Amino acid sequence: MDYGLTDRAGRSIALCAVDDGNWRAVADIAPRDEQRRFVAALAARYLLLSMRGGVWTSLGVLADDTVVGHIMWGFDENDGAHWVGGVVVDADEQGRGVGRAAMEAMIRLLSERPDCREIRLSYHPDNSGAAKLYAALGFTPTGDFEDDEVVVALTVPREPVA
Ligand SMILES: CC(C)(COP(=O)(O)OP(=O)(O)OC[C@H]1O[C@@H](n2cnc3c(N)ncnc32)[C@H](O)[C@@H]1OP(=O)(O)O)[C@@H](O)C(=O)NCCC(=O)NCCS
Repeated sequence: MDYGLTDRAGRSIALCAVDDGNWRAVADIAPRDEQRRFVAALAARYLLLSMRGGVWTSLGVLADDTVVGHIMWGFDENDGAHWVGGVVVDADEQGRGVGRAAMEAMIRLLSERPDCREIRLSYHPDNSGAAKLYAALGFTPTGDFEDDEVVVALTVPREPVA
C-alpha cells in the first residue's frame, strides 16, 4: 500500500499487511512512556484485538523497509463510518513526518473503498499532538465522545454518479 508518500527525511512511508515475516516488529511498536495514558503500551494489544474481534484490521507502517508504526481500521455498521485506531509511531521515530504520512496513506486506502463515506477516529482530549495532526488532515469534531475521547470525522468526497 504505497502511495508515494515520504517522511521529512525522504524515506518512503507505506502501509503493509501484517504477515509471518513482520508481525513481531509490528507487535513491538511502542509509544513514549508518557504517551501510555493515550494508547496501549505495545502495538501487540491492537494486533490481538484485530485477530480476536473480526472488526479491526491491523497494518504496519513502513519507512523504507523498516516497520516504524502500527495503524488499524474497521467498519462500524451502526454509524456507517470507517474508523481508524491504534495509531502509534515507535517512540524513536516520532516527529519525523511518519505519523502524518501514515494517516494520509490510510485516508487514501479507505477512500478507495466504494462504501467509504466518512472516516472517524477518537483521541484523548489531552493528546494535543494527535489533535493537531488530525485537524491538519481535515478532521473536524462531531460533538460525540467515545469512552471519554473526542470523536472527529473526515468526509470522503465521492464522484457523482453519471
Ligand atoms: C501522534 C503520533 C502518531 C504522530 O506521529 P509523528 O510521526 O510523531 O507525527 P509527525 O512527525 O508526522 O507530525 C505530524 C503533526 O502531528 C502534530 N504533532 C505530532 N506530535 C506532536 C507533539 N508532540 N506536539 C505537538 N504536535 C505534534 C503536529 O501538528 C505535526 O505537524 P508538523 O509536521 O506541522 O509539526 C505519534 O506522536 C504517536 O505515536 N503518539 C503516541 C500515540 C498516540 O497518541 N496516537 C494517537 C492516538 S489517537
